[in-house]
Amino acid sequence: MDTFDYSSHLLYRLALAHEPASPLQIEFHPGVHCDLYQCPHCYGHGQFPVKGGALTAEEIDQALASIERAKPTVIVSGITTEPLTHPNAAGIIRAVRKRGLTLGVYTKGYRLNDETCEALVEPGGFTFVTVSLDSVTKEDYMAKHGLTSSNKGAARGSSGATYFDSVCEGLERLRSARDAAGSNTQIRGSFLLFDDTAHQDTIAAAVELFGSDADLLRFSLPQNRNDGCSPGEMSTNPGETLTRLQDKFRDNNKVRILTETSARARTPCFSRCWAQHFQVTIDKSGNVFPCPQVAVSNYRSLVIGNIRDQSLKDILEGEARAKMFEKDVDSEMGCRICDRKDEALNVTLSRLNNAYADFT
Ligand SMILES: C[S@@+](CC[C@H](N)C(=O)[O-])C[C@H]1O[C@@H](n2cnc3c(N)ncnc32)[C@H](O)[C@@H]1O
Ligand code: SF4
Repeated sequence: MDTFDYSSHLLYRLALAHEPASPLQIEFHPGVHCDLYQCPHCYGHGQFPVKGGALTAEEIDQALASIERAKPTVIVSGITTEPLTHPNAAGIIRAVRKRGLTLGVYTKGYRLNDETCEALVEPGGFTFVTVSLDSVTKEDYMAKHGLTSSNKGAARGSSGATYFDSVCEGLERLRSARDAAGSNTQIRGSFLLFDDTAHQDTIAAAVELFGSDADLLRFSLPQNRNDGCSPGEMSTNPGETLTRLQDKFRDNNKVRILTETSARARTPCFSRCWAQHFQVTIDKSGNVFPCPQVAVSNYRSLVIGNIRDQSLKDILEGEARAKMFEKDVDSEMGCRICDRKDEALNVTLSRLNNAYADFT
């Protein structure tokens, strides 16, 4: 480096000064299945959670009590599961919100029933709900999620043919409950674009269908799955496609085209996982993992404790976690399947470490 970059040096010092026992984010994957969804593009397609009974809302509440002072953002999501399939999803939402913690829920939206919507909008910490979308017709929705009309659903005995309408109804139910309660819960749609849908007609139709219920609609390209397989037919010239769509919808304040998602992910340019210093992910049975992408049975070796055996605070401060910080991503952790956010953190902090390790 010819010129010392003071602002990136400050960022590096802040990252080193961060106390890992006070995580910025705690993610829970409480779902017990995925209803009838078998999305071929899903990060964890064909993989399974570690076996074990589901945590109760009370157990999650206790875990939060032990680290509440750190004020982490709490994410409720899943990797091979849908979070709202937990038998007491509303209780989990309440456990987070009553503590005033920021909550983000990532869901297909199929189970946004009255009880869940109520829990999401009653007084509590700031909350955003991101509904995963990718289709504007029932037929395409069924094809993109491996749903068929002959299926009998794990929930409500519904066939896969009812799912798209249920998702649209769920979004509307949440928006009505939010408006009736005068709540500031944010409703977002996260829309994945594939080869057959990465064009302006789809985005215009999505705005028409979901725009009155969602505060924000984000459009992005999917990443490769955890097994390295492509998530489906991808747009050729992805960068150009997204830039063109961004130009087209620049004036629509509900639409965001995430142009940077055209970039190739999963780079080999870091050897330590820095992302795990700032977060943990807890699966449905209480196993604590360094990140959301590895919270499946294939990566069981990365479990650093279970909140049924130890308090979350003890796990965060424990030796197993500290040892994981020192492991090589390829030869010892065997993961390198980071999502975009974690990969960006790992790339940036590893670059800063190379540049400033001698200047701390
Ligand atoms: C893995 S899902 C889990 C929660 C819930 N089952 C759902 O589908 O919303 C969490 C988020 O990851 C997104 N996702 C899944 N596979 C992806 C991929 N290959 N690339 C980018 N995002 C993906 C989903 O669209 C969703 O917004
Ligand atoms: S997949 Fe990436 S973020 Fe997750 S533990 Fe491995 S290196 Fe860290």
